[in-house]
Amino acid sequence: MIDAAGTPQTIRLSDYRPPAWRVPQVALDFNLGAESTRVTARLTVERNGKRSEPLVLDGQGLTLVSVKRDGVALDVQPVGETLTIDIPGDSAVIETVVDIAPATNTRLMGLYASGGMLCTQCEAEGFRRITFFPDRPDVLSVYDVKLTADAALYPVLLANGNEVATGQLPDGRHWAQWHDPWPKPSYLFAAVAGNLSPLRDTFVTASGRTVDLAIWVAADDVPRCAHAMAALKTSMRWDEVNYGREYDLDRFNIVAVGDFNFGAMENKGLNIFNSRYILADADTATDADFDAIAAVVAHEYFHNWTGNRITCRDWFQLSLKEGLTVFRDQQFSADQGSAAVRRIDDVRMLRAGQFPEDAGPMAHPIRPDSYIEISNFYTATIYNKGAEVIRMMATLLGPDGFRAGTDLYFDRHDGQAVTTEDFVRSMEDASGVDLAQFRNWYAQAGTPHLDARITHDAAARTAQLHLSQTLAPTPGQPVKPVMQLPLRVALFGGTTGKRLGDERLVSLTEASATIDFDNIDEPPVASLNRGFSAPIIVQSDRSRADLAFLSAHDDDPFARYEALQQLGQATLLDSGDDSDLVAAIGATLNSGLDAAFIAEAVLLPSEAMAGDAMAVVDVDGLHTRREAVRRRIGSDLNAQWWAVYHANNANRYELTPEAKGRRRLRNVALGYLMANDDAEAVATAFKQFETADNMTDRMAALNVLSHSNAPERDAALAAFHARYADNALVLDKWFSVQAMSTRADTPAAVAALMTHPDFSYTNPNRLRALVGAYAANQVRFNAADGSGYRLVADAVLAVDALNPQAAARLVSPLGRWKRFDAARAALMRAELERIVATEGLSKDVFEIASKSLV
Ligand code: PHE
Ligand code: ZN
Repeated sequence: MIDAAGTPQTIRLSDYRPPAWRVPQVALDFNLGAESTRVTARLTVERNGKRSEPLVLDGQGLTLVSVKRDGVALDVQPVGETLTIDIPGDSAVIETVVDIAPATNTRLMGLYASGGMLCTQCEAEGFRRITFFPDRPDVLSVYDVKLTADAALYPVLLANGNEVATGQLPDGRHWAQWHDPWPKPSYLFAAVAGNLSPLRDTFVTASGRTVDLAIWVAADDVPRCAHAMAALKTSMRWDEVNYGREYDLDRFNIVAVGDFNFGAMENKGLNIFNSRYILADADTATDADFDAIAAVVAHEYFHNWTGNRITCRDWFQLSLKEGLTVFRDQQFSADQGSAAVRRIDDVRMLRAGQFPEDAGPMAHPIRPDSYIEISNFYTATIYNKGAEVIRMMATLLGPDGFRAGTDLYFDRHDGQAVTTEDFVRSMEDASGVDLAQFRNWYAQAGTPHLDARITHDAAARTAQLHLSQTLAPTPGQPVKPVMQLPLRVALFGGTTGKRLGDERLVSLTEASATIDFDNIDEPPVASLNRGFSAPIIVQSDRSRADLAFLSAHDDDPFARYEALQQLGQATLLDSGDDSDLVAAIGATLNSGLDAAFIAEAVLLPSEAMAGDAMAVVDVDGLHTRREAVRRRIGSDLNAQWWAVYHANNANRYELTPEAKGRRRLRNVALGYLMANDDAEAVATAFKQFETADNMTDRMAALNVLSHSNAPERDAALAAFHARYADNALVLDKWFSVQAMSTRADTPAAVAALMTHPDFSYTNPNRLRALVGAYAANQVRFNAADGSGYRLVADAVLAVDALNPQAAARLVSPLGRWKRFDAARAALMRAELERIVATEGLSKDVFEIASKSLV
């Protein structure tokens, strides 16, 4: 809400008060049409305790037609975005009638039109764009929903829960009545009307109930839903086995839509998905797409218990459901293939998305203290760091303690809207583990740094690991407490290469501590933060030789990967000799470890990762250096890369973990072979592009060609566009691959693509594919002339008028100005200032742009 002075208001956790009114029952009646929809809402309201306030309902962009209290018309009008109704007694039935316009709803919040269908998105505060309601997660209601619509345009009518009745009307319209028996907050409401076809299946729960499953898409897309359906069934079983959680309705529906602000939404019994997380077949989706689909399907399904049966008291508790559910989907994915590679991916994502956030102007704890616009807090911090915090508790409690903790949490809080504190207390009560200091992870922003050094006393046969931690100030938090860091550590003998004793779990609770190891007969090398047991930055005195040694001997796969990454990082940050890195990569290629692991381990850290470790990002220097190292790895190991490339050629396409690993390694090899742009490599890439029988290989070839100056590049891009001209999800890839090209002409190419007939500001996937991808291309987005900054700021302003959430997400790359040299910083600031000075800015964009300028 914008106050009289025009400044958006800050909402604070400390101002939380329970609702004055409860709404145990809601009946909604939708008379659906794209141009105009009439919504009649009947709310049964009851005073919550002895509170005396009137009933205050939220409403945004609604045309009010009428209000009745217990059947009597009231003459009331909304003020700003609230409608206040006086109620003399302790209960009443309030009926409102409003009109809304789905076809012009470009925010994609509330009821909107997408590809001929009507669908809803309510989290976090979209329900108020459908009807007047106390739109907050701690008001739980049982919903009865009637949808009426033209039967030809909208043959399928879906809402939460179970379908209880349907009927035809004489005028060509029809209706369906849905009932959801589980009380839920308004953000979990959903309704869909469209010309959709189902992929159907069934699932029998542990207690023997049969659940009807359906994924609803356009008829042509039904064959592309099989993978999502398989993932749904696998996740339903997985949650029974691993958390004792059974599905609780007779139906589970998923709908895929082309225009969607996020990945997907866990509405009770009616998940709504961005179509990119449902549709896949070998010809149009990469292995990474297939894996992301399984992870998101699982994530939304898991929300049925962690989010829906137990929900959030207020939006400051968002990580209660999101951190926990991401942790659960990470565990699920780890069980489906290589757990090590999955952990590597999780950490890579955390470092790429969350660490910069934690080091920047928008740094916030996983339980924030305040916000202006809650949509801005669906962040890598809430989601991914939130998952790391749950993971640390699982590590500290052990598997049995953690399971006892979640069992108690489900028992104690089923049907409630609760806080992160309630979750932590369940963990403590079930396990007896004291988490008092651990709670700092909920309240503190910033990434802790750990300094680790090892000393060896050969005579005493002991080693000492000296640890000390620091946490730099973040906005609003100048002084930091000591954090509890669960660190898995082990020592390896520098002479024998063997592990010395067992791995230990060290819980660092002091600013510094020394850990003693006995029976150490050879110079030890420390393997630190194994499995990435704490989401921190480790600085150690390990030499390049130590890192190369660990990359060959560590028996924790993550730590082994990490050793090679740190050696790569050190190589990118200094200009010295890199032959030890080349040798370590060569040795890893010959290690006999599984292909999926090798493929990730031999990749260099990204330019962004390397830049994050510098005091000031050296944009061009880093790019030049990294390309030189890549060329050296490509040429020194040329024969090995060719051998890997040929050895991992598959006879036919399969989607097994092994086949995916081999494809990945083969394509990583292709990347190194292309590093020197030599003719044989280019010809090989182009041939792979033309003959691939799957999107992973075709896209990998297009990707390596996209950086090249060879004529095959443009031929491949043109062929790709022609082949997939009618597939929006694949065209997104075509935009992205060009936006991420390291070629010097990328800024001009992106500017041209902004006017391409297939580009659109209104489709969030397309916007992210072009502008989002470009903003992540460190060397080209940060072009010294500021053209990248201007292009992104222009896009922010153009999109803000249509879809503030989508616009706000594009602002944060500009907020990183403090990390760059003075000239670039000034150019970035100028764009932020231009944005903030714009008339009629949304509070979404205002919050991020203004906080970024501080
Ligand atoms: N709750 C969704 C999820 O994490 C994300 C989401 C938020 C989707 C807001 C839409 C709008 O699964
Ligand atoms: Zn979620």
